[in-house]
Amino acid sequence: MDIIQITLFLWYMTAVASEAPLGKPNCSSQCGSVTQIPYPFGIEAGCYLDDWFQIICDNSASPSKAFLNITGLEVLEISVEGTLKVASPITFSNCSNKPVGRQTPNLEGSPFLFSRKNKFTSMSCGGIALMTLHGSTIGGCLSICDYYSTSVLQTKSCSGMNCCQTTLPYCLSSFNTSFGAELNADSQKACKYAFLVDNDWFTSNSTNISAIGEMDYVPVVLEWYVVNYTKFDIYGTNNWRDDNSTDCSSSQCFCSKGYHGNPYLLHGCKDINECEDPEHPNRCGSGICINYPGKFFCQLPDRRSSRVNLAIIVPSSVLGLLFLMIGSWWSHKGIKKRKNIKRKEKFFKQNGGLVLEQQLSSGELNVEKVKLFNCKELEKATDHFNADRIIGQGGQGTVYKGMLVDGRIVAVKKSKIVEGGEVGQFINEIVILSQISHRNVVKLLGCCLETEVPLLVYEFILNGTLFEYIHHKNEDFPLTWEMRLRISIEVAGALSYLHSAAAFPIFHRDVKSSNILLDEKYRAKVADFGTSRSVSIDQTHLTTLVRGTFGYLDPEYFQSSQLTEKSDVYSFGVVLAELLTGQKPVSFMRPQESRSLATYFLISMEENSLFDILDAQVMKDGENDQIVAVANLAKACLNLNGRKRPTMKEVAVELERIQLSVKASGVQQNFAEVEYDQSQITDRWYIASPSSTGSCMDSGTSCSLDVQPPMSF
Ligand SMILES: *[C@@H]1O[C@H](CO)[C@@H](O)[C@H](O)[C@H]1NC(C)=O
Ligand SMILES: *[C@@H]1O[C@H](CO)[C@@H](O)[C@H](O)[C@H]1NC(C)=O
Ligand SMILES: *[C@@H]1O[C@H](CO)[C@@H](O)[C@H](O)[C@H]1NC(C)=O
Ligand SMILES: *[C@@H]1O[C@H](CO)[C@@H](O)[C@H](O)[C@H]1NC(C)=O
Ligand SMILES: *[C@@H]1O[C@H](CO)[C@@H](O)[C@H](O)[C@H]1NC(C)=O
Ligand SMILES: *[C@@H]1O[C@H](CO)[C@@H](O)[C@H](O)[C@H]1NC(C)=O
Ligand SMILES: *[C@@H]1O[C@H](CO)[C@@H](O)[C@H](O)[C@H]1NC(C)=O
Ligand SMILES: *[C@@H]1O[C@H](CO)[C@@H](O)[C@H](O)[C@H]1NC(C)=O
Repeated sequence: MDIIQITLFLWYMTAVASEAPLGKPNCSSQCGSVTQIPYPFGIEAGCYLDDWFQIICDNSASPSKAFLNITGLEVLEISVEGTLKVASPITFSNCSNKPVGRQTPNLEGSPFLFSRKNKFTSMSCGGIALMTLHGSTIGGCLSICDYYSTSVLQTKSCSGMNCCQTTLPYCLSSFNTSFGAELNADSQKACKYAFLVDNDWFTSNSTNISAIGEMDYVPVVLEWYVVNYTKFDIYGTNNWRDDNSTDCSSSQCFCSKGYHGNPYLLHGCKDINECEDPEHPNRCGSGICINYPGKFFCQLPDRRSSRVNLAIIVPSSVLGLLFLMIGSWWSHKGIKKRKNIKRKEKFFKQNGGLVLEQQLSSGELNVEKVKLFNCKELEKATDHFNADRIIGQGGQGTVYKGMLVDGRIVAVKKSKIVEGGEVGQFINEIVILSQISHRNVVKLLGCCLETEVPLLVYEFILNGTLFEYIHHKNEDFPLTWEMRLRISIEVAGALSYLHSAAAFPIFHRDVKSSNILLDEKYRAKVADFGTSRSVSIDQTHLTTLVRGTFGYLDPEYFQSSQLTEKSDVYSFGVVLAELLTGQKPVSFMRPQESRSLATYFLISMEENSLFDILDAQVMKDGENDQIVAVANLAKACLNLNGRKRPTMKEVAVELERIQLSVKASGVQQNFAEVEYDQSQITDRWYIASPSSTGSCMDSGTSCSLDVQPPMSF
């Protein structure tokens, strides 16, 4: 068996990935020059999400033209990345043969917004063009008359002479155009017009922008959103949804890195074959490129592994190459026997097992605790994965309750969808959990890799998730303030351990109340490490694909994709806010600006109305001093600037201090003072934290402590 044969085999294996469909099955995918109609848009009944996204294809025109049903706008192009181009009318004033009074379409109440890729453009010889919204001016520009070419028809570029441009305000969905004061008497009579236009289109036509005056419509870019459509809240593994908090609290879905297609369709995101990418023809140099769902590996001929992607830790080995060779030989025979595609997929998944075996055999991991279970035994233990045994269903898989032959009760996690990407996460979880030993982290007992879908076996945690306890109240077992405080201390301690005490820093990346389990004594156990990452100490930062759960996701991480320990701190802040208020992290019952609990909580703190939003149970049995202190801590964790957030260690220490401060507290804090003076809060923070450096003696003095986190990113 030589290298070429392996390469061929790998090519064969990965070429199975097909072109991703963008629309629903049996739906028209084009109309005239609109060559892509991705879901949620569609023409036929059942093909679109709701009436806003219904496309009417007018076949009487040649070529056919596409229109949005409700707004009536002609559609020029739709991108699954959240934009579409439509034809938008030009507003003319005093131009011969041109209608008067036409305005840019009104998109208020629709799921569309004007993109800031557009520019408001006015062409007139000396005058002001204004954008108004319900009577108030929100933008405008002034052009100066070029007396050497008084006719706007001779304008060649838009630089203030006869033509001016301005950018749009954020989140604009409607405005009216009007023409204001004129600079001279001549220009009053002159033809002038203004329009919103896709700036890329405009600049590519800048050799003769005067020609636009002959047109009736120009292309405008709209952004479309699936806000209000909660059914997109279901997270797949290869797609995710995000509310870009800095951008109109709108929602968009994305395919994960390494996948492409339509994230709005179930299984719409397909693996990208990086090894076949024509833009990177020779990805692995002299090595062999191996495509894998969401990523690729380079198998180097000199028997040493290479870390192609920082986010992928693939210690490969001679053994790995051997496995691959045996595997490919096996598959080669399989192909000869005309085995079907399913068989190949199965083999592919087993590669996930190979990756793990490589990790195990490389000796880097502490895997003594991970027992390899017999799959048959697990099947028996869960009564053949009986639906009655389901105790939880997460993004990654279904968890069943099972009883082993020796009588032990365990939780068995099984991948929900048979897809390679999920297997990667399972392997990741095994690798991460095998390195951890902490009383507040759920214990992995073992796994089974013999089946198509690997199974993970954990200790069984009796009392379900913290989320259920907070939000599905049980009168008989109320979550008292004392329990809330203790649980938060336990979780903070576990996260602090993950960040600093474990062999490698581990970032959980998906801290949320539904990933915190409660045992028979209501002790917290942090679970679900499928998306966690461990980072070697010398790495200065880690740029990753953003993962996490909407409502808990650190806005800074979302913007920069730079993973630091502070993202977990933010998510933990949301959990604290949840414990204090008893409210869900995202709720469409709250007004738009407070849909995210983090924002709602921070606004209430600013407005001095913390006590209005507290959970009734917290009000009933919490000490005011303690509540205020925890609220301040949550606020510090939710700081938009990650560097200003405390570390998990500081959080854990502060929570313990709060717990001890019960009645014996000598620190008489003035509520209003502590609560609402930002600088004081910050300072108080750092005083309380043992790991801060500097000698700031009193929070009353203005001290400029430069507190760095222990690890700098
Ligand atoms: C698509 O249309 C064909 C023929 O019209 C039909 O047999 C098939 O069941 C349809 N598929 C779906 C998914 O609706
Ligand atoms: C356009 O949408 C409306 C509902 O808003 C619906 O009544 C009408 O039938 C739609 N037009 C077409 C051609 O489907
Ligand atoms: C979303 O819901 C809010 C409140 O129900 C409503 O005001 C808004 O118009 C809706 N937006 C869309 C695009 O349907
Ligand atoms: C635009 O002008 C019309 C007519 O004066 C008015 O009814 C409408 O509310 C205005 N729209 C905006 C967004 O200001
Ligand atoms: C249009 O031009 C005429 C003169 O040609 C002028 O009297 C009138 O005021 C102009 N109308 C507007 C709306 O500028
Ligand atoms: C503007 O440029 C586009 C291509 O970018 C071209 O199709 C279109 O005809 C041009 N329009 C004018 C008015 O020059
Ligand atoms: C620009 O377009 C205008 C209107 O179509 C036309 O009159 C003029 O000759 C064009 N100029 C050039 C340089 O093409
Ligand atoms: C989120 O909003 C910011 C600011 O508008 C923008 O730069 C960024 O690209 C947006 N992110 C996504 C994923 O759309």
